[in-house]
Amino acid sequence: MTARQQPKNLWIGRWGFVLAATGSAVGLGNIWKFPYMTGEYGGGAFVLVYLACILCIGIPAMMTEIAFGRRGRGSPIDAVKRVAQESGRGKIWSGFGWMSMLAGFMILSFYVVVAGWSLAYLWKAISGGLQGGSVEDMAAIFGANNANPLTLGAWSTLVTVVTMFIVGKGVQEGIERSMRWMMPGMVLLLLAMIVYAMFSGGFGEAVTFLFSFEVGKLSSAGLLAAMGHAFFTLSLSAGAIMAYGAYLPDSKSIARTTFTVAICDTLIALMAGLAIFPAIFANGMDPASGPGLIFMSLPLAFQQMPLGNVLQVIFFVMLSVAALTSAVSMIEATVAWLTERKGMSRKRAAWSSGIVLWLLSTLAMLSFNLGADWTLAGKTVFDWLDYLTSRWMMPLGGLGLCLMAGFLLRDEIFRDELRLSRRQHALWLLMVRYVSPLGIVLIFIDALGVMSIDIGSQWPWFLAVLVAITVLGEMLSPRVRRQLVG
Ligand code: TRP
Repeated sequence: MTARQQPKNLWIGRWGFVLAATGSAVGLGNIWKFPYMTGEYGGGAFVLVYLACILCIGIPAMMTEIAFGRRGRGSPIDAVKRVAQESGRGKIWSGFGWMSMLAGFMILSFYVVVAGWSLAYLWKAISGGLQGGSVEDMAAIFGANNANPLTLGAWSTLVTVVTMFIVGKGVQEGIERSMRWMMPGMVLLLLAMIVYAMFSGGFGEAVTFLFSFEVGKLSSAGLLAAMGHAFFTLSLSAGAIMAYGAYLPDSKSIARTTFTVAICDTLIALMAGLAIFPAIFANGMDPASGPGLIFMSLPLAFQQMPLGNVLQVIFFVMLSVAALTSAVSMIEATVAWLTERKGMSRKRAAWSSGIVLWLLSTLAMLSFNLGADWTLAGKTVFDWLDYLTSRWMMPLGGLGLCLMAGFLLRDEIFRDELRLSRRQHALWLLMVRYVSPLGIVLIFIDALGVMSIDIGSQWPWFLAVLVAITVLGEMLSPRVRRQLVG
């Protein structure tokens, strides 16, 4: 029995999928979240662990996720179910598909709020509302922007409506076309900002802050955050990449695609860091200022730059477009599922999920004004949505898919989809069976406080544990070895 279904609707052109997947990956996560998290968790140590997570956990997980999507040719729920059934496993495994779909939905509900900030700032940039000479002035503008639930809600509602409109139309062409100018445009703009920063102060400090790798300085919370962010920034375990993978033509190489997307995404995040931190240091701002960081530092930096007003408008246009191309990917899984399983038209599916989304996102939006003190354990609704999805649901989903692919399902499926050389396949298996699961589990254990991890001094132990578990696993079920020796 072969489960290979015919795809219903394929990406256009050679670069279609890469553009769409990059559009999903590159977003607020790179330009808004990465800098503020780096600032909060102390700089270089966070960056280093984040890069390690991308390489050892994110890339293998992304390959696995695309393989599931393409093999199953359906929404994440159906794709996981079909691939499991092809290996003679029960429907229960589609639970991971359900969890991803839910995570995508929850992420989108706070993502539209931040995308709303971006639109609000675009409007302020055009209408001259971002004047002021000090960090305090900028903090006041940011505070005022959030204080009024009606205007703040109007911006996030606008983002929701535009997202649903695009998704309802069927997304490929629009996304692909906007990505073609946006990616090069974004790189050029960030480069210009970096070059400017090199000559105007704060740059050396920024480089030291971002790249002085003192791993010992990283807290458990920082470790968990770095792993969660690796999932977030690559759009993993929330249905997006799997749903897009369902439209990937058979002829495309999953490995090559994955590396292209991951490299673009990482470069843009690092460039954003290099463009943003000089302004923070030059103006004596605290890098640990939290989610408002870029909204408080950048307008100040743009004011000091030649042509700053124009560049600022361009910057917020790009940030908003980047946010939209990510937002549409987060709801694609839900919409695909509603059309396949509930027989809805795309439009109807988009608008009905839009309504539910709007309710949840309104709660998230209220965290910045009326609901600022609806907290549980010190976290607002907005914080909880972010925390639960990024730190727990996405890594758990990634863990589940990797273990399924590594141990539970028939290896032919993945050999068929990934089409790697024998050595490369063995390496991929090693990653999904041992390296990424162990990494994820260790970080969870550390975060739960069961034991504390200090990679800086304890890494030989972790390596020993990894080797021991690998050897044990290969004695019990020797897949990797079989691949290696043929
Ligand atoms: N990766 C995007 C960013 O960095 C956000 C995103 C899009 C996302 N789709 C996702 C995050 C799916 C998690 C899951 O901004």
